[in-house]
Amino acid sequence: MADTLREKIHMEVSKVVVGKKDVIDGIISTIIAGGHVLLEGVPGVAKTLIAKAVASSLGLDFARIQFVPDLLPSDITGTMVFRGGEFVFHKGPIFTEILLVDEVNRAPPKTQAALLQAMQEREVTVWGSTYKLPPLFTVIATMNPVEFEGVYPLSEAQVDRFMSKVVLDYPTIDEMVEIIDKQEVIEEWPVEPVITREELLKAKKRIWRIHVDDNIKRYAAYIVERTRRDPRVLLGGSPRAVIAMIQLARAFALLEGRDYVVPDDVKRMAHYALDHRIILKPEAKLSRATPEAVVDDAVESVEPP
Ligand SMILES: Nc1ncnc2c1ncn2[C@@H]1O[C@H](COP(=O)(O)OP(=O)(O)OP(=O)(O)O)[C@@H](O)[C@H]1O
Ligand SMILES: [Mg+2]
Repeated sequence: MADTLREKIHMEVSKVVVGKKDVIDGIISTIIAGGHVLLEGVPGVAKTLIAKAVASSLGLDFARIQFVPDLLPSDITGTMVFRGGEFVFHKGPIFTEILLVDEVNRAPPKTQAALLQAMQEREVTVWGSTYKLPPLFTVIATMNPVEFEGVYPLSEAQVDRFMSKVVLDYPTIDEMVEIIDKQEVIEEWPVEPVITREELLKAKKRIWRIHVDDNIKRYAAYIVERTRRDPRVLLGGSPRAVIAMIQLARAFALLEGRDYVVPDDVKRMAHYALDHRIILKPEAKLSRATPEAVVDDAVESVEPP
């Protein structure tokens, strides 16, 4: 029996998505926590499918924009058009709830900046007028792994503005067999909402009432601090990283139906909150160190309360 919101979402999404529970946890926790997601993975690992299925299970509107080198800011925000003798605002595709931005690192910096600004302010300004985006507006931006980085890689400051980074790996052999059999069901799209928009907004507000013990805040702070002291690291987790970690842990606790955070929530969210903010020294990269390994070691080295 699916009792918690988390279980209900997993049950719906798994009608079309094989496995990938961790990825889905990362995405739904970020949505509840009011952040935006970087989704990293090579082509064909179900980035689009998962984003769409999560949106359907939450009953939210979904849109997708492919970022390309000649994309203009107005292509996403919208523009003024002359109609019936006056200029009226024609909304761009950004006016949705779950926005999948495919290959965010392929659009020019100006367009990326327009997106980043809309993400932060949850509104867009066109010709001096400001238009509000829906309260549940969430960007899921896809990126290829670093080796395939696009024409305009995001700067560290831009990457830091994403609350989480979620990595999609290849499925196992058994999963691939199941994926082949899923195609017919995907066509039918049986994914139903498990929550209303109003309930979801209420849940999002409840996040501040999820209790985090001081010991747990300290636990998270130690983990983040360890990433900064690691000799392989040039730039470690910032205060923004520790805030993200705690907000994600709160969201995960809420999805599990708890009103308090346990150390395991922090542990679970550590990679999502930290990996993308850690910059390694060039020599560490040469010896094949990874941000994931740095975070693993940091989590491993701090005793949970
Ligand atoms: N875990 C999975 N569960 C169900 N289907 C999957 C899974 N992984 C891959 N697929 C299938 O693989 C195909 C590609 O999926 P999708 O289009 O979502 O990938 P993508 O990561 O968005 O690719 P691209 O980067 O090219 O946009 C789809 O037919 C999808 O059904
Ligand atoms: Mg896709």
